[in-house]
Amino acid sequence: MELFRTKSEVMLFRRSVRDSKRSLGLVPTMGALHQGHLELVGRALSENQVVLVTIFVNPTQFNNPEDLEKYPRSLEADLDKLRAVSDSLFVFAPEISEMYQDQVVSRPYDFDGLDAVMEGAHRPGHFDGVGTIVEALLSLILPDRAYFGEKDYQQLQIIRKLAQMRRIPVEIVPCPIVREADGLAMSSRNALLPPSLRDKAPFIHNCLQLTQSLFGTKSVPKIEQTIQEAFAGEPDFDLEYFQIAEAATLKPARRKEAEKQYRAFVAARLGGVRLIDNIALN
Ligand code: PAF
Repeated sequence: MELFRTKSEVMLFRRSVRDSKRSLGLVPTMGALHQGHLELVGRALSENQVVLVTIFVNPTQFNNPEDLEKYPRSLEADLDKLRAVSDSLFVFAPEISEMYQDQVVSRPYDFDGLDAVMEGAHRPGHFDGVGTIVEALLSLILPDRAYFGEKDYQQLQIIRKLAQMRRIPVEIVPCPIVREADGLAMSSRNALLPPSLRDKAPFIHNCLQLTQSLFGTKSVPKIEQTIQEAFAGEPDFDLEYFQIAEAATLKPARRKEAEKQYRAFVAARLGGVRLIDNIALN
């Protein structure tokens, strides 16, 4: 496995991959790797001749400084996990100054309303930060394919839009959510959950499954009311939003239209840790 720390090393690597006409897959991460990340890596290895994983805790996508400070960091353990998947991987783990020089700020984007709802509404500036770093990585690395998990479904839609707006010739590959045995969606933040509350966490997925089962027969407002009441009965949770939305546009669903795809989205705090999850409804 080879570890790059600078953009110039990555540029040389990119040139050699292109010169040898090999396909390149990119898996962007913020580290604290778990099985969900490793499945993205496995998929990228199966579809590309060369795979580069980036590990970078991007400061501009954190709207809350305390959240940035608490975000788990474990570079050595991450490298061991990647080595165990394949010794042929390449890893880019830059310092903040390498990606941002002296100005750690994001660029403003217009994602055509995709960023106005849910995570965008609750985490001001978050998607400008994501757009800034993902555009920088895609433009530097120029992968043939880039892999993103559906747990961050809104992010996935925004990155698709970004690639289209900036005409970056990359295939954005969505990958299914990976869950713990009890249904909790895998996330680097799960490591921050207080152990005494960990067994409460699957409640989020249970609510999403309930939504899925009600979706065929109940109205959207009725389902939203049911789920909000369920959260109100769980004092350990602080519900930020529960939203049924069109899968393509992320517009809140008012009523169901036969030809459209819908998903349900949740963000909630448990023991002060912010968890998000979503599910396809039809
Ligand atoms: O999903 C993540 O881990 C991050 O938002 C990403 C895409 C690596 C950008 O920092």
